[in-house]
Amino acid sequence: MNWWHDGVLYQIYPRSFADASGDGVGDLAGIAEHLDYIASLGVSGIWLSPIYRSPMADFGYDIADYREIDPLFGDMAAFDHLLEETHSRGLKLVMDFVPNHTSDEHEWFKESRSSRDNPKRDWYIWRDPGPDGEAPNNWPAAFGTKSAWTLDESTGQYYLHLFLPEQPDLNWQNPDVRAAMHDVMRFWFEKGVDGFRIDVIHMLFKNPTFEDNPPGNLLAHVPQSEELHEIVRGLRAVADEYEDRMLVGETFVWDIADIAKFYGNDGDELHLAFNFPMAIAGYNATYMSKVVDKTLDALPFGARPCWVLSNHDLPRHGARYGADAIPGAALLLLGLPGTPFIYAGEEIGMTGMIPPPERQVDPGGRDAARTPFQWSPDPNAGFCPPTVEPWLPIAEGYETVNAEVEDTDPGSVLNLYRRAIAFRNGSDALLSGDFEELRVEDRLWVFKRTGNEGSVIAAVNLSGERVEVALEVTGDRAGRIVVCTSGGREGEVIGEHLELAGFEAAWVAVN
Ligand code: NOJ
Repeated sequence: MNWWHDGVLYQIYPRSFADASGDGVGDLAGIAEHLDYIASLGVSGIWLSPIYRSPMADFGYDIADYREIDPLFGDMAAFDHLLEETHSRGLKLVMDFVPNHTSDEHEWFKESRSSRDNPKRDWYIWRDPGPDGEAPNNWPAAFGTKSAWTLDESTGQYYLHLFLPEQPDLNWQNPDVRAAMHDVMRFWFEKGVDGFRIDVIHMLFKNPTFEDNPPGNLLAHVPQSEELHEIVRGLRAVADEYEDRMLVGETFVWDIADIAKFYGNDGDELHLAFNFPMAIAGYNATYMSKVVDKTLDALPFGARPCWVLSNHDLPRHGARYGADAIPGAALLLLGLPGTPFIYAGEEIGMTGMIPPPERQVDPGGRDAARTPFQWSPDPNAGFCPPTVEPWLPIAEGYETVNAEVEDTDPGSVLNLYRRAIAFRNGSDALLSGDFEELRVEDRLWVFKRTGNEGSVIAAVNLSGERVEVALEVTGDRAGRIVVCTSGGREGEVIGEHLELAGFEAAWVAVN
């Protein structure tokens, strides 16, 4: 089994996972303490959101030194220990690579802004003001529609930042920037990390004319052009200097044809590209199945789709779809053809929570996705000591939705994820079988995966109403429920019809 092709990957947002040091913020030692739990899920690897030295204006996506661990998370010894312990359990470790921007406290930017003729001036993107001193163009920054340009008073030019002013964009048109960033990748590859998730990879190339975006097009300044893909091929070439490393891109683009391009023409770009049209879809099978069909059509031969329903930037899917939908959504996600990523907490059915206004901290309004992992029914959900205030409040309902209580409950979401991942890991049909739609309605999705050793039908009821699904698997070809959101039904033999209760879902093996 190839770890990134066939396995399930597990995203950890380190601030929110487990606080071993007792300061209310998760850390590397906390992750290391829970590796047995992670291994018990059956996943093949972990992706860590950034842990590098950072002033934390964007909670680590503003990096002041790509080669150091932020003291909040630990130190390099703690990282080395985590890497070793992860590998010793047969798990892979994927880091976050943030190439589009640094922190404004990175030495490179401090040099760049120090004078117009500093050798690193061109490592960032500087432009003169417009005739009336205004920003050079109308490009927007994320987190609100404010300008992507900030004036540096002392040198009289504006610098570009597609995110916060504290996150100046690097100039990837400068060969020295490319070389320096390739060396950052090598630094971590040499340590033995298994890959990178690449932050906003679709934004690395900026429209060289620097003209205004046309009205209504907020992404015209980051064209999905050949020049962008040349940069991506450069990153892949670095990964290919090492054995069995993987690059997955945060390809936050809407056009599935643009996602497909990130796999390269000749398998020479990303190994995986996140499919955001699926991530932001509502819980609607008609829409979701269109995304899957279009993706399978668009991807180059042999390219692996990559599905995700939740991450640290999106409200959790349990909150968006409704808590009742969580178990069925698990069998939907894990049944699709491609590599699934699960976001820590989704496997226990966390829905997150919008903190009260006085506890909100994220400039991008994403706190609800980042409330601490719920380990136990203890105070602070076992995330940090009871006497400490966690950096974000614990979401309501943690007394029942938590790993400790669910561990011993066979009917829990946690044990459903475990059974589903275990079955998937051994199922040729689910890992590499063909995909065929049997029935698609807004609130019902039945699809079949067929491999060399038989088929698995995934039937997901997305509604609260009971439904009956014709399976026509009678006689010798009788089906058997192998994984079900109602665990008691596993083993049940299915004839012509499968009945599903509201929000119930099942995988049925057919020989
Ligand atoms: C995408 C990351 O996932 C998000 O958390 C971050 O704020 C932006 N990129 C900027 O790095």
